[in-house]
Amino acid sequence: MSRIPEETINTIREQTDIVQIISQYLQLRKSGQNYFASCPFHDDKTPSFSVSEKKQIYHCFSCGRGGNVFSFLQEMEGLTFVESVGKTAELADLSVDESVFEAARQSKPSADTLQGKLLNMYDKAQHFYHHILVNTKAGEEAYRYLIDRGMSKESIETFKIGFSPPQRQALKLYLENEKLDDPDVLKQSGLFSDRDDNTFVDRFSNRILFPITNAKGQTVAFSGRAFQQETDNHRTAKYMNSPETVLFNKRKIVFNYDKARASVRREGEVILFEGFMDVISAWEAGVKNGIATMGTSLTEEQIHVLDKVTDHVVIAYDGDNAGLEATKRAADFILKETHFTVDIATFPENLDPDDFIQSRGKEAFTDFLTHGRDTLTSFLIKYHRKDFNLKNESERLKYIEIVLQELARVSSAVERELYINQLSEEFDLSTDALKEQLHTFIVQKQNERRQEKRKEAHHAPEEPTQSIVIQHNQPKETALSRAEKALLHRLFTHDDVWSTIESLGKEVVFSDQDRQLLYILYDEYYHSHDYPSVQSFIDFLPDDRLKSKASEIAWISLGDEVANGEIEDYLSVIVDRQPIENRLNEKKAALKEAERSGDKAKQQSLSFEIINLIKQMQSK
Ligand code: UTP
Ligand code: MN
Repeated sequence: MSRIPEETINTIREQTDIVQIISQYLQLRKSGQNYFASCPFHDDKTPSFSVSEKKQIYHCFSCGRGGNVFSFLQEMEGLTFVESVGKTAELADLSVDESVFEAARQSKPSADTLQGKLLNMYDKAQHFYHHILVNTKAGEEAYRYLIDRGMSKESIETFKIGFSPPQRQALKLYLENEKLDDPDVLKQSGLFSDRDDNTFVDRFSNRILFPITNAKGQTVAFSGRAFQQETDNHRTAKYMNSPETVLFNKRKIVFNYDKARASVRREGEVILFEGFMDVISAWEAGVKNGIATMGTSLTEEQIHVLDKVTDHVVIAYDGDNAGLEATKRAADFILKETHFTVDIATFPENLDPDDFIQSRGKEAFTDFLTHGRDTLTSFLIKYHRKDFNLKNESERLKYIEIVLQELARVSSAVERELYINQLSEEFDLSTDALKEQLHTFIVQKQNERRQEKRKEAHHAPEEPTQSIVIQHNQPKETALSRAEKALLHRLFTHDDVWSTIESLGKEVVFSDQDRQLLYILYDEYYHSHDYPSVQSFIDFLPDDRLKSKASEIAWISLGDEVANGEIEDYLSVIVDRQPIENRLNEKKAALKEAERSGDKAKQQSLSFEIINLIKQMQSK
């Protein structure tokens, strides 16, 4: 591993504000002294992830992950420590000695792993296919097709679009020439089809290729579009995708996420399109926060990816019937399974967004996206309409009932009022009657929800809804573990605590293994560093778990000053109380056992012992 001088690391860390860095990835909201967001490291429906500006650390109350700015970037971007230092400097706009970045560059994920080899192969393939589209005769027709469709040369570059010639040998020969011919890697890449005779041919032939990139912008797959008119019965699918590989998981990948991310954060919303062509046309029209799935419905994994940057999605699917149904499905899913809010852009006259831009222009498109979109409710009102013949009275009543059912889900009274008025006007009904009916539905919904909750409570512990609640729900902390954490906290944050402990001459043994380990490691760290700090201790720690534990301990608020006798108090709890606490735990376990086996006499004697031990502890 290449090394960066510790001084440089400290300087970069000190000149960086963790809040400023993390907010480039997450939507942070300030509450009190700290900032909160949904945790990017687990499926978090509540904002359990918190960042302390003062302490310059983060901590998730739900999954327990935590650390400093470097460990955040390591985990978020999958970087090595050295890379994370370089990345921090870059994100914080610090001018640092170029050698830091050099070191960071040298420690890219090893090219020896299968992943590294595949990334390299996809990178080569992407350049090769792009070159064929743009610079060769073989790519001319495909290139023309794109230009005729209205795609700009700039987009062809930005999206690195390519072309695979029909012969099914081109890529294979090219890679062989580049000495990338390890059969196992060729097989795992998904870029080739296996022949019976164990030879490989290019998977993509005669298709326009859209590189699919991961969050880092690396190509991990292709989607290939057929572009010539089908002449005979020989029909092929319009799009063909790479198969899943170690790099490419359809459920997780979000097309254009890497390029859209910054703009999504800026705009506070992401636009979800059905097709790649829609994303690209929208991009050309200046809408840079567009993404698409791989022709599949939106998944929880994709929402999880997006959750790092927004929690509002605008569904902008095709305006045809299939698009409408897909919109309804996506909206139902988002509302039911996620905390995202939704708006809908339904394009008129069966147009898809790309058609709309080509036929009406970029300005009409951006205008429609901003002013022509529906709220979810108004979309649903329109959506249900097509199922009913409104001239028929009984169908009309059914329709109104369905709309009111939808309105019962709306939490804003103002919004409900708005639609009630619309309904009243359109169908010439009194608002009072409509409101009364709506009220019945609302009560019904509440009852249903209550019942569901009760059912859930039977099956699983109730999920806390607020980070604050989570803390309350955690098992009550014992005085011993409180003292151990507080002692470590003081040790990490105050230089002279170590000598106080030494001067007291007691052997400190922790009841928790991780805390014991942190204590031993801190000893080593403290005695080898001239300017110890909790931040550089976190860097010093060997793995994520310990980093998280250390940040959790650093997170505790104890006030800035160490009080007189404070350290001594902790030590007396830890050293004197621990044997009692251990015995207490043993007895409690034994009591449980006795209860299970129904041994009444034993239960009674154990209960006495437990009460005595508790008394002893309280007198300490
Ligand atoms: P569309 O048919 O809307 O394609 O399918 P498009 O992207 O708008 O392309 P053009 O405008 O027809 O050229 C939407 C998405 O569904 C997936 C692709 O991801 C496509 O972008 N799809 C479509 C497939 O995976 N296979 C297909 O055969 C068709
Ligand atoms: Mn299309």
